[in-house]
Amino acid sequence: MGRVFVDLKKQVDDSYEITIGSGFIADTVKGFNSGSDFFMIDDNVFHLYSDIMPAERVYRFRADEHNKTHESVVAVLGFLFRGECRRDGRLILIGGGITGDVGGFVAATYMRGISFVQIPTTLLSMVDSSVGGKTGINFRGAKNNVGVFAQPKHVYIDMDFLKTLTDEEYLNGVAEVIKYGMVYDADFLEYLYENRDRVLARDTEILDYMVTRCCSFKAAVVRADEKEQGERALLNFGHTFAHAIETDSDHRIKHGFAVATGMYLETDYAVKHKLAEAKALEDIGRVLKAYGFDLTYDIHDKEVFFGAMTADKKADRKGLTLAIAPKTGTGKLVKNISIANVTEYFTGS
Ligand SMILES: NC(=O)c1ccc[n+]([C@@H]2O[C@H](COP(=O)([O-])OP(=O)(O)OC[C@H]3O[C@@H](n4cnc5c(N)ncnc54)[C@H](O)[C@@H]3O)[C@@H](O)[C@H]2O)c1
Repeated sequence: MGRVFVDLKKQVDDSYEITIGSGFIADTVKGFNSGSDFFMIDDNVFHLYSDIMPAERVYRFRADEHNKTHESVVAVLGFLFRGECRRDGRLILIGGGITGDVGGFVAATYMRGISFVQIPTTLLSMVDSSVGGKTGINFRGAKNNVGVFAQPKHVYIDMDFLKTLTDEEYLNGVAEVIKYGMVYDADFLEYLYENRDRVLARDTEILDYMVTRCCSFKAAVVRADEKEQGERALLNFGHTFAHAIETDSDHRIKHGFAVATGMYLETDYAVKHKLAEAKALEDIGRVLKAYGFDLTYDIHDKEVFFGAMTADKKADRKGLTLAIAPKTGTGKLVKNISIANVTEYFTGS
């Protein structure tokens, strides 16, 4: 069983452990049995794992990007309120990134904040969203535009959950894994390329290494820059274009797939504007293609697409901020990118 610590430099010690392993989650869930433990559980996960799910104080959530809304927040707040959850209450979140993001936001705001625990059940949430304390919802067509930073008390990753994930949802998470390689570690990227068959086959040994490595990357960056004042923003590589793709496709293209296309197109944009080496584009393209990701995107509605990009949290009045990979294995933030240049890149005019 692997362990990764998120060790925050704060007066109040908000450090927490990420427990990584297989076959232990039934006991963990059973252990949350006090009257102050409340559960928000992805409905699909609840059905798939009904034998280990709690019977009381459970809010079942239909995880869908269209449900990542303030209406869902109000519904879960109501559940806690009706259940007489007090400030010493604890919310246990079992599900993917949508459940974790919405539930974390609820926990962070109910009675000015109760503690919460993340039990991620998708690859994406194991390697990325459950760690680091970004919580929130989509608001008026802008992805994750309302939220707070709030760290969980513990993250329990049981890789057995991955056995029931569809191939599409699994691949959705692989995109975020590739992102770490491209931004932090060229050798890890190469490892993912070389071992693609075993990664896709969900080989236990590979999964163990991959998930632990990604959690270590994430823990290190969150420790250095919890509130995304600098370094953490590099993890937004591909995300500015991705958020536009997700919104313009009305979320038919899932987050990870949009990030994959976004990483490729942002690198292509960067190469064309002499912000990145051609080799970086070659590398990211080669790895993404090896996993079968689509590297192109046809805009449906320019207004929605570019509107989502300018509504992005990383944009300001001077322009967009893009997290790019100028070289394979390194990341860089580039500010004040003109929206006119980006529009021209996509539309040719
Ligand atoms: N907070 C962060 O730092 C952060 C980082 C990256 C992404 N995100 C967010 O995460 C979200 C995407 O998360 P996701 O990809 O986990 O999506 P998700 O939560 O919607 O889960 C995807 C689907 O898989 C199903 N599912 C979950 N676990 C399962 C299992 N073990 N077996 C079978 N089916 C299962 C769900 O019911 C759902 O239909 C996006 O909203 C994105 O913005 C947040």
